[in-house]
Formats: sequence, structure tokens, C-alpha cells
Amino acid sequence: MKTKNQTLFRQNHKVADVFSLSESIVVYPGDCLDLLKSIPDESFQLVVTSPPYNIGKEYEKKLHLDVYLKQQAQIIAECVRALSPEGSICWQVGNYVDRGAIIPLDTVLYHIFSNLGLRMRNRIIWHFEHGLHCSRRFSGRYETIIWFTKSEDYVFNLDPVRVPQKYPGKKYFKGPKAGQYSCNPLGKNPGDLWVVPNVKSNHIEKTKHPCQFPVELIERLVLSLTNEGDWVLDPFLGTGTSVIAAVRHGRRGVGAETVQKYIDLARDRIQQEIDGTLLTRPMDRPVYDPVEAGNSLTVAPWDKKGSEQMRLFEKRAKYGKGR
Ligand SMILES: C[S@@+](CC[C@H](N)C(=O)[O-])C[C@H]1O[C@@H](n2cnc3c(N)ncnc32)[C@H](O)[C@@H]1O
Repeated sequence: MKTKNQTLFRQNHKVADVFSLSESIVVYPGDCLDLLKSIPDESFQLVVTSPPYNIGKEYEKKLHLDVYLKQQAQIIAECVRALSPEGSICWQVGNYVDRGAIIPLDTVLYHIFSNLGLRMRNRIIWHFEHGLHCSRRFSGRYETIIWFTKSEDYVFNLDPVRVPQKYPGKKYFKGPKAGQYSCNPLGKNPGDLWVVPNVKSNHIEKTKHPCQFPVELIERLVLSLTNEGDWVLDPFLGTGTSVIAAVRHGRRGVGAETVQKYIDLARDRIQQEIDGTLLTRPMDRPVYDPVEAGNSLTVAPWDKKGSEQMRLFEKRAKYGKGR
């Protein structure tokens, strides 16, 4: 059921392009530093983003890592200025790759946040199944979300993001609580390893953008780190996902994007969200199970006894001495 605030946001069909605290939804067509300059101090409850990784995607120019980090530091400092004292910043990043060697961006960005006095609360591992197939290292199948707060007194709502327990009816079997349920009936803390499908070609949310957030990933952050009516900022908005997640839950959303085709995509998707027509993967849907989905290709034709892949199921003893 939608709350009063959520209904109000859907009735307000205007997607503004200039920021004002009296707006609810803003897509700023331009550089995030220009947008940030127009924001009063301590306005946002959550800054959530995935910046360019400096790996030469179509929307970025590959820079020397030091230059890239200086640019990031400037933007992060402005985000911190615009963040409320109870607010959070979530920076979602992967690896910078230099001639085949990886540098996990969170490890080099951490100091920028901590030097600004922010405190890290979680380093969330976002695990997904699809991506590039590497031949000289293991294929990368996770990225991270580093979550920082501005103070010790920060918003954290666990109940809206609890997930089902593995053994929901489990009870204490001894001691003073014997016979009572040992788990929280609202579900368990989702932990810091999140398995959420990434947006690749078969994903229902896929657009022409090369690296979209899945909406459900940001919904979890919006629900846990903000309250209704709060402002959420994404300085690198892309296709508008962070604003969509904010609007869906009765928060206000603002983002900046420099590339016209993505600005158009973001506005279009946000409008679909307002109209209730945007198709997204639901937050509580389990990750794809081919058997449950009725997929006929659940057994590979080459999985016959004696094939190379079947060897992986044999007892290790058959390979030799290794344990
Ligand atoms: C990794 S993508 C973010 C995608 C986004 N999370 C989504 O769900 O669609 C980074 C985006 O930042 C944009 N961008 C790069 N530099 C920018 C800047 N200085 N200000 C605003 N946007 C920028 C790029 O065009 C790109 O769309």
C-alpha cells in the first residue's frame, strides 16, 4: 500500500531541471560540480552513486589515476558539504584496470572520505553473475558499495529491508527462552554481501546505457538510510535509477548527467515511474533459478559421463594426491 507521501510524489508529475528545495524531482543536465554549487549546505540525507571508473567507457576520458582521484576528491568534498549531519554517502565502485593489473577503486577512495571526517559503516560486496570473461585472471563477479556516515547519529532503518530467514520457525531449545522463536519475525539483517543480478542484456531494466544500477539495489539503500520526504542525490545519474528508487519510496530525488541521450533516458524512465509503468525487477524476487523458471536447458548436452566438465564432480582422489 502506498503512503500519503508516495501518492503525493506520483501526483507531482514535474521533473525539474534546476534544483530548488521546493522541488521533488530534479534531473540537472550538466556537470555535477555545477549542480552541487547550487545546493545549500546539509540538504541531502543520502548521496548514492556509481561514478565513472576511469576505464575508458564511452562517457569518460581515461585519465592518469592521480588526476582521476583529484577530480573525485573535489566532487566528494562538495557532496559531504551538502550532506545532512545524519546523512550517508554510498559510493559504488569496481576496479580500475592498468595493463591487466587491477586497482580496486574503493581502496584508493577510502582515504578521501576518511580525511573528510566520514566514518565507514559497511563495505558491501555486490555479487552478480554476468560480466566480462577474463582469460588471464578470474572473471570479476563483484563490486563494492562503500557506505560512510557524517556523524555517529545517523539514520539506519533495518526493518524495511529485512530478508527472510533460512529457518524462519526456529526456536530456542534450552535456557530461559526455550520454546520461543529465536529469530526476528520481521526477517533477518541482509548482511553485507548482496546477491543482486546486474543489468545485462536479458534484464528487464536494460537500456542503451552500458552500466546501469538495478533499481532494487538502490531501493535497499534508500529504504534503510533515509526517511520519507528526504532528499537523495546521485551526482552521476546515468539513466535515473537513484531518483527512481527515491521517488518509488516517497523520497525526493536529484541527479546530474552530462550526456544528452542519458538525460533523455533518465527523464523518460522517471516519468514512467511516476506514471506507474516502469518495469523493474522486484526487490524480493530470488535470484534466477533455471529449474523453477521452467528452462529446458538445465542439463548441458556435454555433461555426459567422461566429459571434461564431469571430471569436476569426481572425487579428488581420482586426480592424484591433492587434498
Ligand atoms: C557509471 S554511470 C552511472 C549509471 C547510473 N548509476 C545508472 O543507474 O544509470 C556514470 C554516469 O556519469 C555520467 N557523468 C560522467 N561525468 C559526469 C559529471 N562530471 N557530471 C555528471 N555526470 C557525469 C556519465 O555520462 C555516466 O552516465
